[in-house]
Amino acid sequence: MLDNTQSKDDTISEWDKNAEARRRQIISKIDISYHQILVPTIMRLVGDIRKKRVIDVGCGNGAFLSMMEGHQEDLKGSLNRIKYFGVDKKERNIKEIESKYKELLEQFESPEFICKPIEEIKYHEEFDFVLCINFLHEINPMNISEVLFNIIRSLKVGGKAEIIDMEELSEGEYDCIPWDSDAIIEIIASIFTEEICEVQLLRYEKKHGLSIPLYSILIKKKEFLDKETYDDELIDAKKIAFRFFKKKYEKTVEEISDIETKLKFLLNVDRSDGKESTNEILNHMNKSMQLKNFSKWMSRWTSNWEE
Ligand SMILES: C[S@@+](CC[C@H](N)C(=O)[O-])C[C@H]1O[C@@H](n2cnc3c(N)ncnc32)[C@H](O)[C@@H]1O
Repeated sequence: MLDNTQSKDDTISEWDKNAEARRRQIISKIDISYHQILVPTIMRLVGDIRKKRVIDVGCGNGAFLSMMEGHQEDLKGSLNRIKYFGVDKKERNIKEIESKYKELLEQFESPEFICKPIEEIKYHEEFDFVLCINFLHEINPMNISEVLFNIIRSLKVGGKAEIIDMEELSEGEYDCIPWDSDAIIEIIASIFTEEICEVQLLRYEKKHGLSIPLYSILIKKKEFLDKETYDDELIDAKKIAFRFFKKKYEKTVEEISDIETKLKFLLNVDRSDGKESTNEILNHMNKSMQLKNFSKWMSRWTSNWEE
């Protein structure tokens, strides 16, 4: 049950419980998104990453490492040719995966962990492969352009980045923004020309058996960056990010008002079965939490970013 008044520690322990439930889902193979989308996509690219420098951005819960662990047989003798870098802004998450995957990490060529937000790290054409698994939805509209810029700048010419994320929030993920794949692609295109990077999109709709739609964006870096600074392009990219975000905010306002109308109706009808109203109440609480988070970013909108 949602509770607006709970403390930060309560929230953390609630998430710890979710993490354990998620681990069980993955192990039992109930989780379709993990086994039918994430693993095949990453394993398809793994052939490319042997002998290479790989950076796992938002390495947090260790999805990539858990895949490598599960496929050690196929990768025999290859892991020590991967130079693995894990970046995460939370030290606690890094510590956890360092200890959880200790044995696996020993097989890589001197793995490194960096505890910093990716938007603050200035890598220049250093990696063959950049992975962003379920990470982008944690990036706010103020920073999304810098994050995408840094990801692409960090790629070597010929390198690839794979971004896998959700297009809708799953229940319980209130402090996040489910970026549309169209928004991500438009932001990238406003910073870099097609000569510099090529982008391919794959969408996995709900009809594939998923509870939420997912997307996978593959970026190939084709040429060196053509200049030192991209300040003007980043301003344009920010405007695009806010345009998409504003639409999302307005849609949430509309959705909550529809739920309220339905709720008023339901609560005025004499019903012996309260299930429908209970669902709507939960739905309403869900949307209110989202709206609260979205409003925080809307209030930081400045007129400089209006188109
Ligand atoms: C939902 S978790 C996904 C973790 C992992 N990639 C996986 O799929 O298991 C997102 C992670 O991104 C990290 N993160 C969020 N914003 C970040 C940023 N700006 N820079 C680096 N890491 C960030 C969070 O701390 C968290 O560990």
